Amino acid sequence: MSEVTAETRDRLIAAACAARPNAYAPYSRFTVGAALLADDGRIYTGVNVENASYGLTVCAERNAVGTMAGAGGRRVLALAVCTANGVTPCGACRQVLSEFVDHEGDAPVWIVDGEGKVRDTTIRKLLPDHFGPGHLM
Ligand code: THU
Repeated sequence: MSEVTAETRDRLIAAACAARPNAYAPYSRFTVGAALLADDGRIYTGVNVENASYGLTVCAERNAVGTMAGAGGRRVLALAVCTANGVTPCGACRQVLSEFVDHEGDAPVWIVDGEGKVRDTTIRKLLPDHFGPGHLM
C-alpha cells in the first residue's frame, strides 16, 4: 500500500471522475467511473454499461478489471470510484476485485462523490474473509 503515492491517488481519482460521464446508464441514470492502478504501472478505467436486458449490466469496476486483464495486467494496486453520492463497490465487484489483489497484501480504495469528497478504504476491508483462488482443491 505504501508504494501508492499521493500523486498517484490524485491521478486515479481524476481518471475515475473523468471517465464517469462516459457511463452508459440510460435506465438507472446512475453513472459510475472507476480507475485502477495495475501492476504494469498503467491506469485502467471503466464505466458502468447498462443494457435494455437489465441483468446484462456490467459495473464500472468490473469493466476496469476486464480492461486491465485484457491488456495483461494481473494485480490491482489501488482503485478509485466516482459517483454522485460516493457509494462503495457492489458485492459482485468486491469479489472480482479480490481476485486481483495480492494474496498477502491489500489495495487502497478511494471513494469519491460528486463534490470531490474522498473516503478511503481497502479491498480487504470491503470484502473480508473472501473466497479466493487458494480455496480451490
Ligand atoms: N454500479 C456500478 O457501476 N458499480 C457499483 O459498484 C454499483 C452499481 C452501476 C450498475 C448500474 O448501471 C447502476 O450503477 C445502478 O445500479
